[in-house]
Amino acid sequence: MDPFSLRLNLNSGDVKGNNLIVESKTLFDLRYSIQNQKALTKLLKNKKDIEVYTVSTCEPGHTAAHLTIHVTRLKPGKIGEEFFFTKGHIHKKPTAEWYLGISGTGLLLLWNKNKHLVLPFSRGDLIYIPPGWAHRTINVGDEDLVFLSCHRSDAGYDYDFVVEKGAPKRILASDKELF
Ligand code: F6R
Ligand code: ZN
Repeated sequence: MDPFSLRLNLNSGDVKGNNLIVESKTLFDLRYSIQNQKALTKLLKNKKDIEVYTVSTCEPGHTAAHLTIHVTRLKPGKIGEEFFFTKGHIHKKPTAEWYLGISGTGLLLLWNKNKHLVLPFSRGDLIYIPPGWAHRTINVGDEDLVFLSCHRSDAGYDYDFVVEKGAPKRILASDKELF
C-alpha cells in the first residue's frame, strides 16, 4: 500500500479524500438508547426521521497493523431534556483510542466496570481512552460538535453492550455543572 493523505478543514470540520465512507445515524437508529420515548415521538411527529450525526471513516486495512480514523459531526439538539448523543460502544478487542475535539462544545462520557467519568470535550481537547472503556459523546452546545478519533483497525465495536446495560449517565439540560 502507498501512503496517502486526506484533507481536514480545521475550521469547518469537513474532511475530504478517497477511501472515506460516510455513515449517518438518525433518531430512529438511536431509538433503543433513548429513555424519553414520548419526547422522541413528539420530535418525529410530521417528520420521517431526523439525522443526529454523521461519521466519515477511513479504514486503510482491517488488521492490527493499520489505524482507522473517523470524523464525527454530531448535531446540536435535545430529546426532551436530554442532549443529542452518539450511540456509544466499547471496542470488542481491548484496544485504546484517541479523541481530538475540532469544533463545538461537548462532553465525553467514559465508563468501565467500576466507574464513569464525564470529561469536557471541545476544540483542542485530546483525550486518551484506555483499553476497556466504553465511550459516548454528547453535544451540549448550539453548534455541531466535530471531532476526530483514531484506533487500531482490528478493534471491532460492541454496541449491544451499551443498549442492553444502558449508559451510566444521561446528560440533561439541568446538568449545568458539567458544562
Ligand atoms: C470510533 C469512535 C467514534 C464513534 C463515533 C460515533 O471508535 O469511537 O468514531 O464511532 O463518534 O459513535 P458511535 O460509534 O457510538 O455511534
Ligand atoms: Zn470508539
